[in-house]
Amino acid sequence: MLRKSNTSFAGTSLSGISAFFILYAFNTYSVCAQSIPPVVKNNNCVTCHTTNKTLMGPSWQDISDKYKPDVKGKDIINASIMNGTSGKWGAVPMPANPQLKKEDVEAISKWILQR
Ligand code: HEC
Repeated sequence: MLRKSNTSFAGTSLSGISAFFILYAFNTYSVCAQSIPPVVKNNNCVTCHTTNKTLMGPSWQDISDKYKPDVKGKDIINASIMNGTSGKWGAVPMPANPQLKKEDVEAISKWILQR
């Protein structure tokens, strides 16, 4: 009797822990997917860039990995977003975004580098 209730206690707590991790992983993923700022969504950035996969352009993750260790990284990213760039990642050029305000560009590069 005692033994049976011990076993079922262990079984319950184990499945509780797995459920916690599954929920945690799912939640982290959806938070990431939803947290793309409107300025990035509304300026077509998401047509060519995703969080984790290379599309026309490099992923936000790859851009962050490349420029985070560089003290001038943020300036380089800002210039590329405003003026466009080519030949750094592949054959496709990145178009300029003269419509963006300086503070928008700052917010975007900060958002890219925070991952
Ligand atoms: C038409 C597709 C396209 C759109 C739209 C686009 N990009 Fe890009 N982006 C690219 C490509 C292609 C590259 C790689 C260019 C290269 O090889 O130098 C790139 C590179 C970048 C880089 C890295 C620049 C560097 O110096 O290494 C950043 C940052 C970036 N894009 C941000 C943005 C943001 C922010 C937006 C929206 C305002 C945007 N992109 C919209 C295609 C695009």
